[in-house]
Amino acid sequence: MMIQKADIFALAVSPAQYPGGGRPEIALSGRSNVGKSSLINAFLQRKNLARTSSTPGKTRTINFYEINETWFFVDLPGYGYAKTSKEERASWGKFIETYLTGRRELAGVILLIDLRHPPMESDKTMAEWLLHYQFPILVAGTKADKLSRGQWSRQISQIRKGLALPAQTPVIAFSAVTGLGKEELGLWLEERLAAGNAPGARGAE
Ligand code: GTP
Ligand code: MG
Repeated sequence: MMIQKADIFALAVSPAQYPGGGRPEIALSGRSNVGKSSLINAFLQRKNLARTSSTPGKTRTINFYEINETWFFVDLPGYGYAKTSKEERASWGKFIETYLTGRRELAGVILLIDLRHPPMESDKTMAEWLLHYQFPILVAGTKADKLSRGQWSRQISQIRKGLALPAQTPVIAFSAVTGLGKEELGLWLEERLAAGNAPGARGAE
């Protein structure tokens, strides 16, 4: 996929602030610090477009990045950040759920899991939820550069098993540092963007 243009378009805390126009969207979901913003930057080859940080909980709004004036990457706030208060966590969950269930423009979801570790409870809950609503998902095992090449396939199997993924769900090894996985991701994005809205996004209220 050729990236001609990429810009931050909106930072939203409520649906009124989501972009209009009906263009397709691809959302990124994953634990805080897993590498959502880094994946966006790496894929777009833009160093600091999406703000990244070694401090978890950096992305607190739903951030829309407009790509080639035709579609959006949607950077969702990370879940599972231990230092957040219970109330704050509940409101974030609601906030993410409102977007995922109510957004007709949603064409697919990238679920990010740290390739080094087995999926955590919060990852399992998210995967189960996305599969239940039949969102087309791609799972990206992040920070692959921190493992040796020989470890990738075993870790991918562990993620597949841990999240109980159906065979047709793609799982890729990704690295924002080396660019590993960008091509596979690009192909999946093209397919999803051509297919249009996800059934899950239409189904719920
Ligand atoms: P929140 O916005 O808090 O939800 O985090 P996030 O998922 O957007 O993570 P972010 O992209 O900010 O990355 C978190 C940390 O992991 C940063 O220090 C990144 O540099 C690092 N990181 C992300 N991806 C990679 C990767 O592929 N390889 C390596 N080595 N580090 C990575
Ligand atoms: Mg982020």
